[in-house]
Amino acid sequence: MIVVSHRGPYSFTRNPDGGFDARRGAGGVVSALSPLLARLGDDERALWVAAAIGDGDRAAVRAGAASAPGIDLALLDLDEVQHRLHYDVVSNSVLWFLHHGLFDLPRRPRFDARAREAWDAYVAVNAGFAECIAERARPGEVVLVQDYQLALVPGMLRERRPDVPVVHFTHTPFCGPSSIRVLPDHMAQALCRSMASGPAGFHTRRWAAAFAASAREVLGPGAGDTTFAASFGPDLDDLRATAASAETAAATADLDDLLGDRLMIFRTDRIEPSKNIVRGFAAYDLLLEEHPEWRGRVVFVASIYPSRQGLAEYLAYANEVDRAAARVNERWSTGDWQPVVVDAEDAFARSVAGLLRYDALLVNPIKDGLNLVAKEGPALNRRGGVLCLSREAGAYDEMGDGALAVHPYDLVQTAGALHEALSMPAGERDRRAALLAERAVARTPAMWLDDQLARAGGPAGA
Ligand code: F6P
Repeated sequence: MIVVSHRGPYSFTRNPDGGFDARRGAGGVVSALSPLLARLGDDERALWVAAAIGDGDRAAVRAGAASAPGIDLALLDLDEVQHRLHYDVVSNSVLWFLHHGLFDLPRRPRFDARAREAWDAYVAVNAGFAECIAERARPGEVVLVQDYQLALVPGMLRERRPDVPVVHFTHTPFCGPSSIRVLPDHMAQALCRSMASGPAGFHTRRWAAAFAASAREVLGPGAGDTTFAASFGPDLDDLRATAASAETAAATADLDDLLGDRLMIFRTDRIEPSKNIVRGFAAYDLLLEEHPEWRGRVVFVASIYPSRQGLAEYLAYANEVDRAAARVNERWSTGDWQPVVVDAEDAFARSVAGLLRYDALLVNPIKDGLNLVAKEGPALNRRGGVLCLSREAGAYDEMGDGALAVHPYDLVQTAGALHEALSMPAGERDRRAALLAERAVARTPAMWLDDQLARAGGPAGA
């Protein structure tokens, strides 16, 4: 089996001894697949094809040191300018914004000559991936292509290697038929044609239906008929191992010192406009305004760490997030209480400590393909914590009936959900927590992988 994603399972940095340190990559695809693939026996060993991202990865590739435990790793050393246009411009500034409904349409996007050049780079990078896979795939070997950065790979690969079964899986939402029309025709057609050329998976039926409707809009009746929905949950063994680690114990002790017997609202996210972090702080501000009883009794711990810093939009959003947190603290802090504590360290153990300890977990994205945190939290939490979950997160379909629904744009409603979470009687909290803990692990990464293999017509039970 060949797994293909833009971000690889490990990122590499040079260490002082001249060697390389490997760090597990971020994001849902990596969390779901790395532990699973690493556990496969040698005869089933998977090849993972990804891009070399950043200087450390590129240096590791050139030194022949980009390897990963239990997986054969091929990191593509792409042309740097093309890669930047592919990743920063088309993938993250166009497709990500399109699928998450983030465009400020009177102003953006603007498809000028530079955008055409960026699209050519997107095509070239996708072709580079397709070429590499076409060369390395054994006859009939299943290829599982992940996500919107590589949406053209399925079509390109089918042309080059018709013998190879290809499945594409999108971890984001997919825009609907009116939004797909925002793209220039050649872009919309290329993306839909490639993804509709075979099985196209999504985390929920809602995103699968949106893609099928967009494909019909762009390509005509019958297109997009091969979509399917298959979600995953956390890899429980992997999560529990992190929960039992010394790093998590140290982070838990830090939290205990910080909180004492105060209640804790928690969130953990990349700093990303779709995560709706600013409105989360604004809703908390409203909670403290409307419910003075919570002042001094609750702390909002936000484990939020930088993402995609090559993009001006993300840097600007990070500033807004800082200002929103500071505003709450300036307004409500007292001598012995700071209402918002931002933890900017990107360390999974610190997030896990927060997930073990929260009383309310706020997951309020504008839109999200799944949002694995909404499952990791209930799978781990030890305090009957309440999940406040946006209806626009893919995970809502599975977790909604145990969660408190959050309307991502309605601050009054969100503040009300936080109040309800913090005041919920113990019996009701425990009932919901038990239901959510069960739901969170009902769909394992192995089931999700099997669903893709089944669509490919390949062997199930990997
Ligand atoms: O949500 C889909 C996804 O591909 C995740 O796997 C990942 O967290 C993110 O998008 C991509 O992030 P990045 O641009 O940092 O690789």
